[in-house]
Amino acid sequence: MEELLTRIKELENISRELEPSEAERNNYFQQIQDFSNRFINDIQTSKAYSDKKVERDLLAIDGQKKPLKDIIEVYKQEVVDKGINAASGRHIGYIPGGGLYVSAIADLMAAVTNEYAGLYFASPGAVIIENEILNWMKSIFGFPESAAGSLTSGGSVANLIALTAARDHHKIKSTRINKSVIYMSPQAHHCIPKALKIIGLEDIIIRYTRMDKHSRMDVNDLNTKINKDRRQGLHPFLVIATAGTTDTGAVDPLMKIGNIAVENNLWYHIDAAYGGFFILTDQKKELFRGIEMADSLVTDPHKGLFIPYGTGAVLVKNREAVMQSHRYTANYMQDSTRIDSDIYNPADVSPELTRHFRALRIWLPLQMHGIEPFKACLEEKLLLTSYFRNRLSESGFETGPDPDLSVSYFWYPYKKGDQDAFNRRLLELLYKDGNVFFSSTIVDKKFVIRMAILSFRTKLKTIDQAVDVLNNIRLKLEREYK
Ligand SMILES: Cc1ncc(COP(=O)(O)O)c(C=O)c1O
Repeated sequence: MEELLTRIKELENISRELEPSEAERNNYFQQIQDFSNRFINDIQTSKAYSDKKVERDLLAIDGQKKPLKDIIEVYKQEVVDKGINAASGRHIGYIPGGGLYVSAIADLMAAVTNEYAGLYFASPGAVIIENEILNWMKSIFGFPESAAGSLTSGGSVANLIALTAARDHHKIKSTRINKSVIYMSPQAHHCIPKALKIIGLEDIIIRYTRMDKHSRMDVNDLNTKINKDRRQGLHPFLVIATAGTTDTGAVDPLMKIGNIAVENNLWYHIDAAYGGFFILTDQKKELFRGIEMADSLVTDPHKGLFIPYGTGAVLVKNREAVMQSHRYTANYMQDSTRIDSDIYNPADVSPELTRHFRALRIWLPLQMHGIEPFKACLEEKLLLTSYFRNRLSESGFETGPDPDLSVSYFWYPYKKGDQDAFNRRLLELLYKDGNVFFSSTIVDKKFVIRMAILSFRTKLKTIDQAVDVLNNIRLKLEREYK
């Protein structure tokens, strides 16, 4: 026994390190605060992209202690300064968001108190906060309060949960899979076919509809395809619309698709991961009419609410459908039913049991800032998109059609040689320069540069800088091509 006590005390001494003293905590905080202040103070001038290689050895775990000061230095050098600076307003590629500072504080609070956000019994307050956010989203998108929902790691997992509910509601079991049909446009995000594969629907029939010239789903074609499939004895059961496509920001005709879904008894899923929160703006509200008809809806706070990465959301009208595959009980879970409540457990609508208390990173900014700055920021992004497109046209670039939202594309109509090669090289030089980050895509077999204006840090000045960078590089390239 004595030996046992001696060893326990020895171990206690060694592991005491894991609970820093108040003085140490203050010291850590000061260093982190200095680091984050420097990062944010410099963000208007720091690079938006760097293709420098990461020194892997510097990030390896060697089991040895190191001072925080050195670790912060390595973090800045190897992590922050390499790749895309996703916090920069000059990140205008992919789908940016920025990452609100207040969410970072929320993450710290959530991590310090380590709330167990999977079960109501474990942290009723955390679960109520999550539910309040979901209720707020239901009110924005016209969903009934009885709908279920979940905050997820992002749009991909949110879509996965929704598609699972659609599968279970329509009882798409193994024997029916190869006769069941899903409809979507070719512009649906790739996480949809990926999710279908994951949930065992790899052999399902997918019909990609035609699109109009704005890359929105062609509803006549949707109707024709459904009717044809029915005549052939197939089982249409799900239609997926996108409210804000990743490539070009197109919003499918939500109401018309909703009516077709009702007529044909299809589950109606809308992926509004990128575009959803533009419903908060007066200019675009109308475009989202029909979103309330969805059976399930995905939207990403880490895009349209500017929350740091790791926050998506799904709403599902039919609770039973979503809980069928996600709600489980086990002997070791029996205590979680101790408290009787009509509030369901987040774990019952998610593949996750133990989960990050991600609700706090949305809740705190909404509580501290109120909703107005969010609406203003979204409206600002729409106007900046028009401004950017005008400035590009003035500079001799060609732009894609007027976008529904804030994703668009452009190219330089180089006349003296291969246009695609010129634009590819232009993007390559933009990457080398690193002051603005764009991405690219292919539209109608043409290589185009893609712009996505959604970071809360993208301002008028940012767009002017971006235009200057583009013009300088384009001129340099033209000289090079002569
Ligand atoms: C329309 C759409 N759906 C789904 C996703 C996937 O979301 P996430 O990257 O958060 O998993 C994206 C990402 O850009 C998107 O634009």
